[in-house]
Amino acid sequence: MYRIGVDLGGTNIAVGIVNEKLELVKKVSTPTGATRPGEEIVSDIAALCNKVCEEMGISLSDIASIGIATPGIANDDDGVVEYANNLPFKNFPIAALLRKDLGDNVTVKIANDANAAAWGEACAGAAKGTKNSVMITLGTGVGGGVVIDNKLLTGFNYAGGELGHIVIEIDGAQCSCGRKGCWEAYSSATALIRMTNEKIEECKKTGRKSLMLDAQKVSGRTACDCMRAGDEAAKEVYDKYIKYLASGIATIINIFQPEVISLGGGVSGEGQSLIDALLPIVRAEQYGGGVVPLTELRIAKLGNDAGIIGAAML
Ligand code: BGC
Repeated sequence: MYRIGVDLGGTNIAVGIVNEKLELVKKVSTPTGATRPGEEIVSDIAALCNKVCEEMGISLSDIASIGIATPGIANDDDGVVEYANNLPFKNFPIAALLRKDLGDNVTVKIANDANAAAWGEACAGAAKGTKNSVMITLGTGVGGGVVIDNKLLTGFNYAGGELGHIVIEIDGAQCSCGRKGCWEAYSSATALIRMTNEKIEECKKTGRKSLMLDAQKVSGRTACDCMRAGDEAAKEVYDKYIKYLASGIATIINIFQPEVISLGGGVSGEGQSLIDALLPIVRAEQYGGGVVPLTELRIAKLGNDAGIIGAAML
């Protein structure tokens, strides 16, 4: 039997078929169009579910369940996305709407996107074989998923594990959740782009030379790429970003002391060099003086597919 995982992101909707070995065997996607009414987004999810089955040469009756990973508070008891800070969802009955499109005999499960990714990494990725792990997704937002004793931590109301909304800078940068100074406002790819743009503006004002000034379009990679090419201003951006990211990771370690923390999302594409930059700061800041076994930092193994695989495994 196959399962379908849906990763509903702020930018793209990706839908994949996962086999019994927890391998992603087919994937299709489309832009989310996040400002559209939720019903239209669900219609696209339904169309992608049909399309992925068609491309695989199977039908929906070969699918044991469909899992949807969505930002925000995903209540799996009633299939309702209670709230999302980056998609137009408030008390949105996503599971019922999908069943309306695909038929009542389809089983639909839902979870927060980072929770699903954490579950995927725990079942089949960087945290496989551990009982306690945390996943942090560094993308448009900062997502958190916590697995304790082989169970996802959701809180009593499914709003738990929102690690991106821990305040790291009082009265700091505005976060999309309404609060100021959240970790997300300093450690997401969006934040890295903001910091890069701020430095570019500073360079322009002061006449300082920087390779970042030549960027056609500033992305989360601009500062990293320019730093690697020897640019000092870019290194200042990267170092600042790493400092906030490392400080948040040390806090997460102090709370959960997981065996593994895996880093996913666009920024994790930096790979081992990201871990190498983070580790000295994390080790210096984390509690325990190094006398207990230390949490390992790993790059997520399932990459962008963690959410799909985790959602399929709900
Ligand atoms: C949301 C989380 C989500 C994360 C990653 C945050 O802004 O609050 O629910 O997991 O972004 O998409």
